[in-house]
Parts: sequence; C-alpha cells; structure tokens
Amino acid sequence: MRVGIQNKPLQTVGWETGKVRLIDQTALPEKLQYLDFSDWREVAEAIRTMIVRGAPAIGCAAALGIALGSRGIIASGREAFLGRVTGIADTFRAARPTAVNLFWAIDRMIAVAENTPGNPVDMKDALLTEALKMLDEDIAANKRLGDFGAELLPDAVNILTHCNAGALATVGYGTALGVVRSAVEMGKNVHVYADETRPRLQGMKLTAWELARDDIPVTVIADNMAGSLMRQGKVDCVIVGADRIASNGDAANKIGTYTVAVLAKHHGIPFYVAAPLSTIDQSLISGAQIPIEQRESIEMTHIEGIRVAPEGVAVINPAFDVTPAELITGIITESGVLRAPYEEAILEALGVARGATGMGARSMSIAGR
Ligand code: MRU
Repeated sequence: MRVGIQNKPLQTVGWETGKVRLIDQTALPEKLQYLDFSDWREVAEAIRTMIVRGAPAIGCAAALGIALGSRGIIASGREAFLGRVTGIADTFRAARPTAVNLFWAIDRMIAVAENTPGNPVDMKDALLTEALKMLDEDIAANKRLGDFGAELLPDAVNILTHCNAGALATVGYGTALGVVRSAVEMGKNVHVYADETRPRLQGMKLTAWELARDDIPVTVIADNMAGSLMRQGKVDCVIVGADRIASNGDAANKIGTYTVAVLAKHHGIPFYVAAPLSTIDQSLISGAQIPIEQRESIEMTHIEGIRVAPEGVAVINPAFDVTPAELITGIITESGVLRAPYEEAILEALGVARGATGMGARSMSIAGR
C-alpha cells in the first residue's frame, strides 16, 4: 500500500519566468520564503552563503545560474560566447569545494554549450533545456533511490539521520529523506531521529521542519546523544546523504557523519549512504583526496549571532568529514543498492548508467541485498 504525503511537495530549486527561484534555507524554520534571482552572480553568492545548500541542490542551482547568465551574454560568435559561459562557470566552481555534484553539473553545462551546433541563441536554449532536465532527473533519481532504500527497511523502523539530505538538499523529495518518504508511502511505520548537526543546525532547522511538514514522526537529538540511543536499542538503522563518494566507496558528508558511522558499527546497526550517482567522483582513489571545506570560525563561536565562546579562543570548523567505506553497509543509488567491494559496484553502476538507454539497472548484481 502506498499512502500519499498530503502537503504540496517542496521544490528547492526552480525556474520561474526567466529567474532562478530558490527556497531561502537561511530563513527556515521560521518562514518558508522563496527568492527569485535575475542576476547569475547572486545565484553563485546564494550557494556560497548557503541560501541553497545540499549537494544535489547546489549542482542544480549552478546549472540554472549558468543558464541564466548565458541569457545575458551579448556575443557575436560561438567562441566569444563559450568564453563568457566558461567565465560564469568558473565563478560557480569557486562557490563551495566539497560537493562534487556542483562540478558535475557545471561540467555537464559546459559540455552542452560546446556540443550544441549553431549560434549563441541556439546555445542559450540548449543550456536552459539541459538545466531544467537536470532538475527533473534529480527528483526522478531521488524517488527511485528512495524506493530501493525503503525496501531495505523493516515495517516499523527508527532511523537516525545527520544533517539534511532531504527535499531541501535536492530539487525535491530528498536522498536519505527520500528513503524515509518512500517507506512512508509504502505504508511503513517510520520514526526519524534527526541529529541537530552543529554548528549550522541543518538537522534541527531543516530536517525536522521538512519531516514535520509531511507529518512524518521526527525527534531532534543533540549530536552527542546518538551513541546513548544506540546503546539503548532505540536506533534500527542510520541513513545519511553524501557530498562526494570516492571510487573506493569512502563518502564525505556533513561533519559528524563519521562519528555516527563508528557508533553504528560498534552497535551492529546498518549504516547506509543514500546518494545519486552524480555524487560519485571516479577521479578520486579514496576519501583522503576529497577537499574538505573549512568554514568561518564564527559559525562555531556564535549561535544565532550571540557569542558563546570566549573571546579569541581557537576553533576549527571543517564542514565535512569522510566515512571510510568499511563502515558503510550499502550505498543506496537510483541504480540499486551498492555493496562492498565498492570499486567494482561503482564501476558497474556507472557503466550501466552511462550505457543505459532504459532503466535495466535494477536487476544488477550490485543490488545484492
Ligand atoms: O553544508 P551543507 O548543508 O551543504 O551540507 C549538506 C550535507 O552534508 C548533506 O548531507 C549532503 O549534501 C547530502 S544532500 C542530499
């Protein structure tokens, strides 16, 4: 049985009458506010300042931002146009370093510009079409991976998640929370523990908000409570998103994810990473090569603008950490659930996805659950 979620689905990134429309995630949970951008530079800035955040969401926002920027280019020929688009793309590349979806989306846009025959008018049309296609693909991939993940879960389950890998981190539906939504739609009895996720509190502000909005039971916990809950038998499984997965299966996600994975291993609790294939970076041998964003210390020293740390105290603020593949029970993708050894499973999944004209991936050996 599939039961519907009643609220209008969230669309985090969109295109509205020639403008990029983003949910302002810095305004949540107080208010659901949409911002329309007519200047591509402001879209890049929105990524940098985390008005839009979450790996797939920033990739799609950048794609639309490039399409938007391309429309304003006045160039007589192809080469001049391509040069300007590349310049815009470079600004987006510099917005945030860790989520590979950003670079994946930008590279895809540049390839479309280069491979579209004709003049700049044709190229502008092709860029917008490609960006809009990415938005649709993102939601479709999330629903598909959500279904694969939901099948892994028992009929009644307590899931712990970290940060926000929900509709707000994607165009819609979510990855880790896509699994939750699919399980709910299948009629499963799901309860989510949301790590508050210091320092920016994406778990408390975003995950709890979007689950509560869909009437999905959610309990916020401080990050340091996870181990105690696991010891008490209150967590059946962990599902998180990812910002970049190396070819050996090591996965970067919000700082604190590694800690949760170690705890899950200790307590014999399955630890799943839910991510679209666009989160896999095959150019990296291991997670040690993933660039980790270092953010401003004010995020640590202040809460809601109020200083909580002693003046001048040293702090560090890495935004992500890397969970080694050996702690990951499975990587839930739109092509199925990848299992160790991940090198082979990833190669097979990407190979099938690239070669696929249809969606035959479901029956691949990678989905050996
Ligand atoms: O710094 P953020 O909020 O962009 O970090 C987001 C995360 O770590 C998410 O878990 C990740 O991007 C997966 S989103 C489906």
